[in-house]
Amino acid sequence: MINEDIIINAKERVDSFSELLLSDLKSSRPDEVHEKAHAYPISVPEIWSNEDESFLKFDFEIDKPLRLYIHIPWCKKKCIFCFYESDKCIPSEEVVNSYFQKIEKELNLYLSKFGKNKFFAETLYLGGGTPSILSPKQTEKLFNIIHNKIDFISTSTLITETSPGTITDEKIKAFKGSGINRISIGIQSFQDHILEKCGRDHNSQEAIEAYRIVRKNEIPEINFDLMLALPDQSLEDFAETVKTTLELKPSSISFLDLRVAQGSFLHKLGYYYPSWKEDITMRAIYQELLGTNKDYIRTRPHYYLLPGEARGRSTRVPCLDSREGNGFQIGIGVTSYGHLGNNQYVNHKNPDYSILIENGKLPINYGLKLKTEDITAMKAIRAIVDYSLVPNAEDVLLQYPYLIKYLRNNNLIDEKLELTEDGCLFGEEITYLFYPEYVKNKIYKNELSQINFG
Ligand SMILES: C[S@@+](CC[C@H](N)C(=O)[O-])C[C@H]1O[C@@H](n2cnc3c(N)ncnc32)[C@H](O)[C@@H]1O
Ligand code: SF4
Repeated sequence: MINEDIIINAKERVDSFSELLLSDLKSSRPDEVHEKAHAYPISVPEIWSNEDESFLKFDFEIDKPLRLYIHIPWCKKKCIFCFYESDKCIPSEEVVNSYFQKIEKELNLYLSKFGKNKFFAETLYLGGGTPSILSPKQTEKLFNIIHNKIDFISTSTLITETSPGTITDEKIKAFKGSGINRISIGIQSFQDHILEKCGRDHNSQEAIEAYRIVRKNEIPEINFDLMLALPDQSLEDFAETVKTTLELKPSSISFLDLRVAQGSFLHKLGYYYPSWKEDITMRAIYQELLGTNKDYIRTRPHYYLLPGEARGRSTRVPCLDSREGNGFQIGIGVTSYGHLGNNQYVNHKNPDYSILIENGKLPINYGLKLKTEDITAMKAIRAIVDYSLVPNAEDVLLQYPYLIKYLRNNNLIDEKLELTEDGCLFGEEITYLFYPEYVKNKIYKNELSQINFG
C-alpha cells in the first residue's frame, strides 16, 4: 500500500502556493486542449489553414537525416479519452495491404519531390492507433517497404507504440527483427476499475505480462506512458500506479495529463474527473516518488529515465527540434504531422487521404508557414522544457523579459533560467505563457486568461 504521507505532503505542497499564482497558472491552460502545450504550434489548430497551398512547394534541400513518422490507424478497442485517428477493428489482410501500398506511394512522392532514390533517417516513430495490432508478417511487410526507401544512420532510434492487449512474443520478435530498439507501452494506469472505465484493451495483470514479454526480448529501451487525471482516478490510485511502475523499472516513464478533445463526449459520461488542482497534486506525487528513487533522472518536467538505459524522449510531434535551418520530419499515413523547411503540415483522414494518394498527390490537409514569432516561441518552449538541448537558450529566453521576471519572482525558474522543482510542477502551464500574442488572442476566450506580468 502507498504511504499516506506522500499524498498528505503533495497536497500541502500544492496548498502552499498563493491563490493568485495558482489562479494565474490555471488560467493559462485554454479550455480545450488537444496536443501537449510544448507541441506548439501543433497544439493550436486555430492557426492552421488549408487555403494557402504554398507549403506544398519544397524548394529546399533536406540537409540532415530525416525524422520519419508513420501512422497505423487501427486499435483493438477505442478508449473513451482518445482523439488519435484510428478505427476500432483487427484489420483484414486486404485492408492492411491496401494501406501499406499507400504508405509506399506516399514515400515515393516525397522521394521524387526531393529528387532522391532513398532518404537517410535518424528516427522512425511508428505511432497510432496501435502499431502492435499488426501481425508479425504484416510488420515484416511494412519494414520491407521502409528499409527499401530509407537508410537509417547507425545511431538511429526506431520506436513503436504498443498497447498491452495486443502484445505477443511473436510480435515483439518481429519488431526487434525489423530494427525497432525502443518500445513504448501504453500502460496508463495499474488500476483495473480505471482501465475498464476508459475502455482499455487490457487489465493491470495483462499489462505486467506484456511488459515481461518486451523485457524478455531484450528491447534496449522500454517506455511506459502513464496518464494523470483519468475518470474516477483518486490520488491514491495514481500513487499506486507510480509505485508499481517503479517496481517494474521501465527504461523511461512519460507522464501525460488527460487532455480533452474538441467535441469529446468524455464529460457527458457522468464519471468524476479530477480537478486541475488534483492534477497538479498528482504531478507533486510523481515528483516525490521519482525524486526519492535514486535510479531515475528527470530530463523534462514530465519525463524520467534510467541513465544508461534510455535516451531522451522521441516524440511524434515535429516541432520540438531547436536546431537552426530547415525542418526535416516527414509524416506518412492518415493524420500524420510533418515539418519540412519552414512548413508544418497535417495529412488528411480517409477517404481524402486515399483519393489524393491514388491521384499521385501529397495527401496534405492543413499547413502552417512558420513566422519568426512562431519559431522564437518554439525555441523558447524547447528551452524551457529541455534547457540543455537549445543552443543559446539564455538569449532566446531573454527575449521575454517580463515573463522571465515573473517566473523568477515566483521561484519557477532559477538564476540559470532553468525550471525549478516547483516550475516543473507547472511545466505545461508555463509553456503556454511563451505562445505568441497573435496565438493567445485566438485561444483565450476572455482577457482574464491573460496574465499581467508588468
Ligand atoms: C496514440 S496512443 C498509442 C499507444 C497505444 N495505442 C495505447 O494507447 O496503448 C499514445 C499515447 O497517447 C496518450 N493519450 C491518448 N489520448 C490522450 C488524451 N486524451 N490525453 C492525454 N494523453 C492521451 C496515451 O497515454 C497513449 O499511451
Ligand atoms: S489504444 Fe491508444 S490509440 Fe487506440 S484508442 Fe486507446 S489510446 Fe487511442
